[in-house]
Amino acid sequence: MASHKLLLLLAPIALWLAWIALRALSGHRPTRASVTVGLSLVTLLYFTGVVGTGIFWVATQELPVFDWHYLTGYLLLALTLVHVALHWRNVAAFLRRGSPAALVDPEKARFRAWVRAAARATALGACVTVAFMLGARHGGRELTVVTSACPADAAPLGKGALTPVQVVKAGSRTLPLAQLYHEGSSYPAHAALPGLTVKTRPDPYLGVSGPATPLPEAKPGGGVSVLQAYADWRAGRSSQPDARLTLEQLSAILYHAQGVNQTIERRNRSLDLRTAPSAGALYPVNIYVVVDDVAGLEPGVYSYHPKRGALILVKAGKNALWQLATASGSPGAYDTAPAALVLTTTFGRTAFKYEERAYRYVAMDTGHAAYNLSLTAATLGWRAPMIARFDDGAVATALGLDGTDEAPLLLIPIGKADKPSPEPLFASAPAVAGQRSFVDLIHGGTSLRMAGGGGPLPRHPATAPAPAPTDIALPAPAQGLPLLEAIRARRSGRDYTNATMTLAELSALFAASAGERADTPAQDPLLVTSAPLGLYAVVRNVAGLAPGVYRYLPLAHALAPRRAGDLSAAAEAACVQQEFCRTADVVFVKTVRWADLFLPDGDRGYRYANLRAGVVGEGLYVEAAALGLGVCGVGAFQDPDVAALVGVDPREEAPLYITTVGKKP
Ligand SMILES: Cc1cc2nc3c(=O)[nH]c(=O)nc-3n(C[C@H](O)[C@H](O)[C@H](O)COP(=O)(O)O)c2cc1C
Repeated sequence: MASHKLLLLLAPIALWLAWIALRALSGHRPTRASVTVGLSLVTLLYFTGVVGTGIFWVATQELPVFDWHYLTGYLLLALTLVHVALHWRNVAAFLRRGSPAALVDPEKARFRAWVRAAARATALGACVTVAFMLGARHGGRELTVVTSACPADAAPLGKGALTPVQVVKAGSRTLPLAQLYHEGSSYPAHAALPGLTVKTRPDPYLGVSGPATPLPEAKPGGGVSVLQAYADWRAGRSSQPDARLTLEQLSAILYHAQGVNQTIERRNRSLDLRTAPSAGALYPVNIYVVVDDVAGLEPGVYSYHPKRGALILVKAGKNALWQLATASGSPGAYDTAPAALVLTTTFGRTAFKYEERAYRYVAMDTGHAAYNLSLTAATLGWRAPMIARFDDGAVATALGLDGTDEAPLLLIPIGKADKPSPEPLFASAPAVAGQRSFVDLIHGGTSLRMAGGGGPLPRHPATAPAPAPTDIALPAPAQGLPLLEAIRARRSGRDYTNATMTLAELSALFAASAGERADTPAQDPLLVTSAPLGLYAVVRNVAGLAPGVYRYLPLAHALAPRRAGDLSAAAEAACVQQEFCRTADVVFVKTVRWADLFLPDGDRGYRYANLRAGVVGEGLYVEAAALGLGVCGVGAFQDPDVAALVGVDPREEAPLYITTVGKKP
């Protein structure tokens, strides 16, 4: 938290002042010269701090250290001002000597009265501005009221939602909880509550102990293309009507979702990289397997250990799958499922580095892992719908979790067919002010509990704008490696040559991540219940496409031009100066419209949107890997600048996530 850091950084100044006070008490009255020397040394110390943290930040991309950088910068500025104030007479005399005659009296003894008045007014203006900025930044940080409001009257954004949008009063503003969190976790940072502060880096693996079942080798060759697997998954097809889920298949599904596929040495510690990317390589995602009928496994709940390539028994028995089915949306999807996978998140792993922005990242990381998981299951012939609509407390209990430090975000039953069943209704668990952190507030406020009853869900209306003559139809997608090979080859790449991307490659990237067709509507619950995302391409270097910003039109598989010109420098600036956002051929931006997000489940839609942004992001990653292109997710960006880049108003449509793609050297 910045205030703790500020207190720590004030320590050298406090020590120096204490030293002066002690000397004064023992009869050594400080001279102007001794104060000046002391002040110079302390100023030098902070100067070193600003430069050092700047170099460290640039070298390692450790974003939280930016706090240290700007706080030492503010203190350096304050000390420099004190320095100037202490020597004001010398400074003024120097300025007078060098000033033009119009500004000083004939003897050059004083500035003219109007110059002095203007200088005082400027100084006063500066003080008022600083006070205002401090007030705006630190005042009104308390959440004073949290009400659960009826969407129809209190939150026009949530009109038609089944679950009320929660309206929060934060200082002088009243806004939906999800928006409060999103704005509070935007860069430039202006959090309304502290981020989750985690002092020591948590272990990236769960410390579950119990009998272990080693999993067999999980690298099947061949298989279908990324695009085919994506189409099969969306259509909810299963080609395994009579088969039993084997341990080999389960192993392949788990490995391609979270398996360790490379270990690198980084700053005196080894880092296991996994098959799905993760913001800051912090890997908050855990996978539990709830087994009913898998060849070679007793029924029960197991925890997947990616490093050991093993399943650890958490609790034996058949009950848990039934508990999941009764606690979640799409209950019919469990009827034919021999097993279900639950993706949980350990918040502290990501919050350790990203504080209040961590909630966005854990949801997107989960979406990345889920894309790999579900598409791998689809290539092996299984249905694997993503179900993000469930009673949080009941699912946590089924797995034996506390639901606080580690909580479930997504359920994926591996089954054959979806038996039609009424969709249960949920109520939101009220958000509570005074949570330990901003991350807890948003997670608690987006939690659901079963409300009984059931019925049809309001579906998101298809958002297909009328075709315009300026729309550009995309050609047939380029073909690449099969899905499983592509996942295993995937790695983040930030080094791009200036080679040009083809339109067929761009077409494949869109098709694998957000492709949707009017004649094959999605069967997957996540895609149906969550708000449709906006997907924009900031194009720098694609053959046959003028540089500019385009919006993807999924139903038409076409692009609608939005802005013309090479905006790669603006993209780099918006991505907090991450250079590869300028050198990429295309920068993809995913957004969500607030008006869509609250349907059908109120603030819960914020989770859905970030999960979905991760799913779309992984589609881009995997297809890029299939085509041999370099690709990297970007979660660290200046939110208002990205909105301006793609030409949307962030109060209506919020940027969630960026992906860069370019040609590898
Ligand atoms: C949600 C998300 C946000 C990310 N944000 C950034 C980013 O801002 N800058 C960056 O260089 N890499 C970013 N990455 C890439 C990760 O650093 C990368 O996935 C991680 O180091 C693991 O390496 P791998 O992808 O090669 O397996 C992001 C990845 C994800 C999933």
